Amino acid sequence: MSRTGFYAGSFDPLTLGHEDIIQRSFSIVDRLIVGIGISASKKPVFSFEERERMIKASVGDIGHVEVVQFSGLLVNAAKQAGATTIIRGLRSAQDYEYEAQMTAMNYVMASDVETVFLSASPKTSFISSTLVRQIAEMGGDYSGFVSDNVMRELKSKFAK
Ligand code: COA
Repeated sequence: MSRTGFYAGSFDPLTLGHEDIIQRSFSIVDRLIVGIGISASKKPVFSFEERERMIKASVGDIGHVEVVQFSGLLVNAAKQAGATTIIRGLRSAQDYEYEAQMTAMNYVMASDVETVFLSASPKTSFISSTLVRQIAEMGGDYSGFVSDNVMRELKSKFAK
């Protein structure tokens, strides 16, 4: 049976932490929909098109990856995309507290969609998109946190 997973985030921008989770999710699913969520509390620096381009260029050749934009509930977006598995990356106990609560509420709303947690690799568990943007804005070296194509996008965004 073919399994479709849904991996949501802001991806503003995609980091090596996200890439790690995307790559490893193919041990669980055959097809992955990366959902770029419109968050009420976050104003993205990169447009949907720019984020989609970065995701496709970085992970497009890993497996069957598609990119969609969504607003509203994660479970609804996952179902609409035909996914039966929600993939979440966990970096810390703090992430777990929040994720476990969200997973339980999602399960009550849609028990046919299972959430699977993947622990972030030690090499990437400290990365955050906000901090990468901050380093880029202040002229620091962020090469250890993002892939080459994202680095180019960050350079051109913050050179403006
Ligand atoms: N490695 C490194 N960094 C990681 C990571 C990993 N494996 N996984 C996540 N991160 C980072 C991200 O870069 C992000 O950093 P930032 O806060 O500096 O931008 C941070 O961790 C949080 O990422 P994530 O948990 O994916 O949240 P998000 O804010 O990017 O995602 C939505 C936003 C819109 C996808 C999410 O809020 C959502 O699903 N909303 C839908 C509403 C809903 O269904 N709510 C639940 C009701 S029960």
